[in-house]
Amino acid sequence: MTISPSPLATSETWTDARLLYALEEVVETELNRHLTVAKDWMPHEYVPWSEGRDFDGVMGGEPWAPEQSKVSAIGRTALVVNLLTEDNLPSYHHEIATLFGRDGAWGNWVHRWTAEEGRHGIVMRDYLLTTRAVDPVELERFRMAHMSEGFESDNRHSMLHSVAYVAFQELATRISHRNTGHHSGDPVCDRMLARIATDENLHMVFYRNLLRKAFELAPDQTMAAVRDVVVNFRMPGHGMPGFERAAAQMAIGGIYNLRIHHDDVLQPVLRFLKALDISGLGPEGLAAQEELGLFMEGLDGQATKFDERREALLARRAARREAAG
Ligand SMILES: [Fe+2]
Ligand SMILES: [Fe+2]
Repeated sequence: MTISPSPLATSETWTDARLLYALEEVVETELNRHLTVAKDWMPHEYVPWSEGRDFDGVMGGEPWAPEQSKVSAIGRTALVVNLLTEDNLPSYHHEIATLFGRDGAWGNWVHRWTAEEGRHGIVMRDYLLTTRAVDPVELERFRMAHMSEGFESDNRHSMLHSVAYVAFQELATRISHRNTGHHSGDPVCDRMLARIATDENLHMVFYRNLLRKAFELAPDQTMAAVRDVVVNFRMPGHGMPGFERAAAQMAIGGIYNLRIHHDDVLQPVLRFLKALDISGLGPEGLAAQEELGLFMEGLDGQATKFDERREALLARRAARREAAG
């Protein structure tokens, strides 16, 4: 089935206010659907509290040392990136509340989403500190630096750009949490991150379904927004201390890289929306669709080159390890 523009679709420009109004009913339906499928889980159940003990400083306990951590090196890097990303929730709340408003169904979604995201930071920090998985002093210093910078969305200029961004970003976050769990080396960590990833998936579904409706109402404008977001996509944590280096390690470590971004994040959402197959577009929408298709092809090629470089690097590392005995 191909999505075709609804009889309401017009080539005129939709303002944010008109779109917010037109989409409110879908927001309500999607929020109700979300509430019936979302499981009300308890963050404290995912933390092995019996492993916890006092730290140095006020309590006079034992200082943190790297050998106390059971988590792999790549797992530690990714956990810090993923937690700092979750920690910037006040800025994200501000961004979406400003665009979507805090009234009616939109407001109900904004608040519910914020409450669910709050759980992610809580459970991750509790796990990391209880198990001594990462340096707590560095974690806190990074959190202060990251939150003090604030976060300003690249996509705040229109609500369609915002909805398109969060549809991809929630899936990107899901994949990043899930792969971090798989590479962490600790089944307790893996289970906690799998639980968070399930939430992120439901967030993606909410925004993805909203975007599908937007395609019916304002196909050309939605196509242009999706193209802009896909072409310029950046992870929300890009401003945190040491992000470039951490992102490079996560790419090599198979947690998040171009191949994963193309295959597991962009493709599934674009396929669901049938973005590259929608017909009946005006000139602006057609141009955007074509650019989107070309960009995806180019990205696939880049991802293949990255995969080759990554495999060569991993082979060299393995050979060095073998030589070292
Ligand atoms: Fe989250
Ligand atoms: Fe989320």
